[in-house]
Amino acid sequence: MTHHAIGTVNGLYPSLTTIVGSVVDGRPNWMTVAHVGIMNHAMGEVPQYLGISVHPSHLTNVGIREHGQFSINVPSRSMLEVTDYVGIVSGKSTDKSGLFEVFQGVLEFAPMIAECPLTMECRVRQAVMVGEHELFIGELVQTYACQDCLTDGKVDLRKVDPLLFDFTRILYWSLGEVVGKPWNAGKALKTKR
Ligand SMILES: Cc1cc2nc3c(=O)[nH]c(=O)nc-3n(C[C@H](O)[C@H](O)[C@H](O)COP(=O)(O)O)c2cc1C
Repeated sequence: MTHHAIGTVNGLYPSLTTIVGSVVDGRPNWMTVAHVGIMNHAMGEVPQYLGISVHPSHLTNVGIREHGQFSINVPSRSMLEVTDYVGIVSGKSTDKSGLFEVFQGVLEFAPMIAECPLTMECRVRQAVMVGEHELFIGELVQTYACQDCLTDGKVDLRKVDPLLFDFTRILYWSLGEVVGKPWNAGKALKTKR
């Protein structure tokens, strides 16, 4: 395989397309965020930290800074249009608060979207500027899943049917097929070597 240098193209896409919820002026505000990450993938009682990278010009940042809380909602493919909409219209000029049915969990300022199969509420633990973006690192406080997206009590990605984000070609993708089992698929090679 011959490789060509193609510049500093970020090769880590796709990322998950999410809708971040915050409270601004007493109302929920929604914003599409695809630059989300897992900062600490702990199990059990150890805190888990999730990161969202958001440009400081957005209204969302104002709400998160004020209250130190936000939600991350995972929309399904069926929500593509409204997911894109909250990513092209700012709450600074348009009230987006009435777009979804809202529910609240443990936190007062992390509104969540009832239509999304999977939602998480987070408490900000750190906020740092990274280049041009504000990175909010939130501790995961609670996750909510609709019954329809679970199989044997676990989140089933096929049922969630998330939107994947491709910034390189500016596309939304959906999931493909299951192709293997992590920590398992390499075992045969491990025994051979
Ligand atoms: C698919 C998609 C993904 C986006 N991801 C991000 C992101 O990760 N970070 C960011 O700062 N803006 C992102 N945006 C842009 C914001 O969602 C958009 O500017 C939004 O209108 C800001 O809303 P607000 O001003 O009400 O907070 C994305 C937009 C789209 C359509």
